[in-house]
Amino acid sequence: MEFVTQLGELRDRRAALPGAVGLVPTMGALHQGHAALVEQARRECAHVVVTIFVNPLQFGPSEDFTRYPRRMEEDRELLEGLGVDIVFAPEATEMFPQPPDIIVEPAALGRYFEGDRRPGHFRGVATVVLKLLNAVQPEHAYFGQKDAQQLAIIQRLAFDLNIATKIHACATVREADGLALSSRNVYLSETERHAAPNLVAALREVVTRLGEGESDVTRVLAGARQRLAPLREDYLGVVDPAKFEPLRTAPPGTTLVAIGAAFAGATRLIDNLTVQTPAEREMVKR
Ligand code: PAJ
Repeated sequence: MEFVTQLGELRDRRAALPGAVGLVPTMGALHQGHAALVEQARRECAHVVVTIFVNPLQFGPSEDFTRYPRRMEEDRELLEGLGVDIVFAPEATEMFPQPPDIIVEPAALGRYFEGDRRPGHFRGVATVVLKLLNAVQPEHAYFGQKDAQQLAIIQRLAFDLNIATKIHACATVREADGLALSSRNVYLSETERHAAPNLVAALREVVTRLGEGESDVTRVLAGARQRLAPLREDYLGVVDPAKFEPLRTAPPGTTLVAIGAAFAGATRLIDNLTVQTPAEREMVKR
């Protein structure tokens, strides 16, 4: 496994790889969710490149950029064991020698939910992902369903900007009690960790009720909200995954995503579940 920190060296080493390349972009502090992306890339591509870069552009001024977990030694060991060809772990000055003048700004897809709560976040994500795609030029790139709005934006980035890389979505990896794995879970105290699965419990309730044919999203969310305490709601919503706008009614026969964000103490958790609404004749009319 090559460990690379400079863009020039990355370009040379990538050019020397004879077969198709799969890219897995990460911010490090790797867990089994990241590992699942790498394993899928390993199965589907001749070579795997993983990037580890805590991207300052996607953190707000009051967010956790400086205390975001950094565990390079453990990450390198994990990736070595997974058979990764190249790890690219640049310093911020290598990726952003100057504050960028040209940025990628998602519009409608970044308006609500994460985009509303974290102004500038998706601009930072889209800009750095485009830079990483340009630097690595992979045939395939792998992203987690865990960050569903980010995934939708990256799929649209590739479509709108004619990026040849095929974007793959990977299922969310969870703890036994349902909590989605996240690098930020290390922030949780024992009590917060105990309450954290309430977010997925609320989302499961949304999935059950929409799946049973209830179409009034406002009512369904009001019910699901009851399951959150002691977590503090940031948002709960139901969206068409191609649009990420809040729906008030769930149309029959469609694939929707129930999304949520909630605070466990000072730690912000996000999660989502996919739901298929039943055909029209099975919808509940009230
Ligand atoms: P990070 O949070 O490190 O996540 C890297 C990738 O792992 C993302 O595609 C994310 O969706 C995926 N992932 C995280 N937790 C997961 C889980 N429990 N199951 C499956 N996949 C999971 O997302 C980012 O970094 C950054 O925004 C990045 C795309 C690297 C741009 O800076």
